[in-house]
Amino acid sequence: MGALRLNYDRMERVEGDLEKIASEIKTCKKCPLHTNRVNAVPGEGDYRCGIILIGEAPGANEDLQGRPFVGAAGKLLDELMEGVGVSRGMIYITNVVKCRPPGNRQPTDEEVEVCTSLYLNRQIATINPKLIVCLGNISSKYIFNKYGLKFKSMSEAHGRIHKIISLHGEIKIIATYHPAAILRNPKIMEEAKRDWKTIGEEVKRICQHK
Ligand code: URA
Ligand code: SF4
Repeated sequence: MGALRLNYDRMERVEGDLEKIASEIKTCKKCPLHTNRVNAVPGEGDYRCGIILIGEAPGANEDLQGRPFVGAAGKLLDELMEGVGVSRGMIYITNVVKCRPPGNRQPTDEEVEVCTSLYLNRQIATINPKLIVCLGNISSKYIFNKYGLKFKSMSEAHGRIHKIISLHGEIKIIATYHPAAILRNPKIMEEAKRDWKTIGEEVKRICQHK
């Protein structure tokens, strides 16, 4: 009874905190990316298992809808996840920066620094994840650096599980190719599918209520 109550209280607090962060993101003007956006994209999904998937930045479709990974890259991401029995209902999906860079250019170091210090880091601290999946170079570099891991290149890092100990326990971190990179270079599809087999096993081990 006590433990259940605690869980329920924690869930309410996490949900409230994520909503507060999302509402700040939607009206944020703290970096130049706000000038081009239609909608900021805070992130969405189920945080209860403690699994966060982090992309780079919203693209055109995400900007129009205010939701992460709803365009062509999102469709491929859904296929990769479905292939290993993972659904969006098992994970929380967000991006390093929350507004679309013009012409889908990469976010600058400064934009990444400003946006992550305001939002992504708080989302991570709120969810207190057991598993972080980094999609692509920008996300992997940022997260590896945050947790004191070395990220040399995606071809070297992808598919390998790193374990780090945070204040709140162990976090597993895994990098894989960004689905947009796979669309540009289909030769990496087989490697990405192998990564997702590993990710799927971890997700299913952690997330048993779905
Ligand atoms: N690419 C990303 O990195 N994030 C999205 O939300 C969509 C495309
Ligand atoms: Fe604010 Fe981040 Fe959007 Fe920049 S990218 S305006 S910091 S929410």
